[in-house]
Amino acid sequence: ASNSQPPSQTVGPEYRPAGLKPIATVSTPLSQKNVHILPQTPQLIALLTMIRDRNTGRADFIFYSNRIIRLLVEEGLNHLPVVGQEVSTPVGRSYAGVKFEGKICGVSIMRAGESMEQGLRDCCRSVRIGKILIQRDEETSKPKLYYDKLPEDIADRWVLLLDPMLATGGSALMAIEVLRSRGVPEDRILFLNLIASPEGAKNFADRFPKVRVVTAFVDAGLDEKNWIVPGLGDFGDRFYTM
Ligand code: URA
Repeated sequence: ASNSQPPSQTVGPEYRPAGLKPIATVSTPLSQKNVHILPQTPQLIALLTMIRDRNTGRADFIFYSNRIIRLLVEEGLNHLPVVGQEVSTPVGRSYAGVKFEGKICGVSIMRAGESMEQGLRDCCRSVRIGKILIQRDEETSKPKLYYDKLPEDIADRWVLLLDPMLATGGSALMAIEVLRSRGVPEDRILFLNLIASPEGAKNFADRFPKVRVVTAFVDAGLDEKNWIVPGLGDFGDRFYTM
């Protein structure tokens, strides 16, 4: 368990004098090149403040989580390659643009990752979505694969792997192994995540350095029970039941 001192920063619009801006804790920076942390904008910090608050009820938790998920999906899509696409506009001019190259699919790590499916569907119409269920084996206390349902042609797709909390990384690493065993190249996997621990991010980058991780925030660390701290508690419970 680690608990490094997290960085803090003034937050607010550029035109405001620093003295009038509050100081907030922002994401811990990481050296791993494959980990992409969303820009720590006032919006993002305010949204994260809402979902971290233990007094935020379920309806607001869902609403504000969905807004962060949308930002993650939009940023994740920026990592997909594009090809040139020239179009004609209604005023008879041509515009040199781009379009996405290749097929994608989502894969959610059940149950909490399923909360991110709608955000992906909102950005990618009729996207295929697979599922993986991994749980801790009671006897060995190691993560174990219980169920998976993945598109047949997943090896030909870019995969957006969905899980909101990256604690030790045990489940996410196993999910990547499942994807690799189905022929998905490491560098065609994007892992979308709301809050990561530095330990989880490091385990991930050490093991699969070509998998791109897009996260909203890297927290200070893990506690003795492997909860992310300061974190937000159990994401699945807060999204689905509380
Ligand atoms: N999963 C959660 O939902 N929260 C944590 O803090 C760690 C893993």
